[in-house]
Amino acid sequence: MKLRGTMQINEQGHLTIGGCDTVQLAKHFGTPLYVLDEECLRDACRRYRRAFSEHYHNALTVYAGKALLNLAICQIIKEEGLGLDVVSGGELFTALAAGFPPERIFFHGNNKTEAEIALGLDRKIGYFMVDNFHEIELLSRLASRRHITANVILRIAPGIEAHTHEFIQTGQIDSKFGFTLENGDALLAVKKVIDEPTLSLRGIHCHIGSQIFELESYVLAAKAMVAFMKTIRDRYQVSVDILNMGGGLGIYYVPGDAPPTIEEYVSTVSKAVSRECEDLQLPKPMLIVEPGRSIVGPAGTTLYTVGATKQIPGVRTYVAVDGGMADNIRPALYNAKYEAIVANKARNADTNCVSLTGKCCESGDMLAWDLELASCQAGDIIAVPATGAYCYSMASNYNRLGRPAMVLVKDGQARMIVRRETYSDLISHDLLLTD
Ligand code: LLP
Repeated sequence: MKLRGTMQINEQGHLTIGGCDTVQLAKHFGTPLYVLDEECLRDACRRYRRAFSEHYHNALTVYAGKALLNLAICQIIKEEGLGLDVVSGGELFTALAAGFPPERIFFHGNNKTEAEIALGLDRKIGYFMVDNFHEIELLSRLASRRHITANVILRIAPGIEAHTHEFIQTGQIDSKFGFTLENGDALLAVKKVIDEPTLSLRGIHCHIGSQIFELESYVLAAKAMVAFMKTIRDRYQVSVDILNMGGGLGIYYVPGDAPPTIEEYVSTVSKAVSRECEDLQLPKPMLIVEPGRSIVGPAGTTLYTVGATKQIPGVRTYVAVDGGMADNIRPALYNAKYEAIVANKARNADTNCVSLTGKCCESGDMLAWDLELASCQAGDIIAVPATGAYCYSMASNYNRLGRPAMVLVKDGQARMIVRRETYSDLISHDLLLTD
């Protein structure tokens, strides 16, 4: 297994992260446990900022909170000077509760409710990422009721297909997101926003997919978006000053994955936007990107304890752990692949082919098929890396499993940032029938 971030193997042959022995972490905090490598997370934030300072001065990196959001993450993102993309009232509330600067919040979502928009307006967030005509109408009504002007960035569907898993493509024409460029909806949306005194058109946005390895997709998207900026200027004599190119940079999960680096991605997007602006003689807009996975994904590792093992001779060996699809739905939902290691036998070269399964009552509850693992038995600790993004945030209480705790590790110190859900938590919203 590839060691990520600050991972090492100590003299006892145990996997360590942030200088903490994962076997000790498992003992102390219990399993399943999400372990977040603080240095790895902060390093990704800094690499985005550093790369932009080299390639495009007027730029902002906005962390996409849907990948993983809690109070401590908001504090770190704030300290690192990034913006924050939220997609629901719940994410917005989390950011505000953590003291995240509202002016650096970008509010996404294709069906924001009136209450969500009102919360954003009342707390004076920076930008509404407006997705559809219904939202233009709703936002302008709620803003005018408050006698304020809302900053609008219009989400455009530029019709660019990124090379990634079909379920997680969001930029193609047949998409529920954004104003379609091709059929004129995007231009009509621009007109409606310009005509609305309570709305201020600040920019345009696109997001062409997730877990993208193919940087050429961004070059095509940049071309389409800058060309649209020119259309807006020619048609309405308005220049939009923000171009938000969304998120999507892929990360390494398993051998064979070859994602571009953060630096390659930033340099490609920056150059593409600069070049298109020069070609079309447009002033360079402020450039925004919205990475989620590439910031938080590699920093996360999930620890599990092995329980039952089932050997079916000539067929397969199932090794069951104390978590599964409730804390990581990605293999079941997207056929996503993961590596794993026996954390207390991290140096064992003697491996067997096994499949890692969870404890949910569902055959599809798998973490990994056909994996080479050191031979393990009940009580061993399994570490699954690269689980920082879209695992906790998509976790559920299926089978009434409590969601795991999360610890932040650095320099040999572990701090709990999300507490484990208890049985009491699980029934805390239930009400008994009374006569
Ligand atoms: N901006 C927008 C508008 C998005 O919709 C997304 C992700 C991002 C930014 C961040 O994309 P990232 O840099 O993380 O790729 N649950 C799926 C991923 C869904 C992504 C949805 N949108 C998964 O587990 O792979």
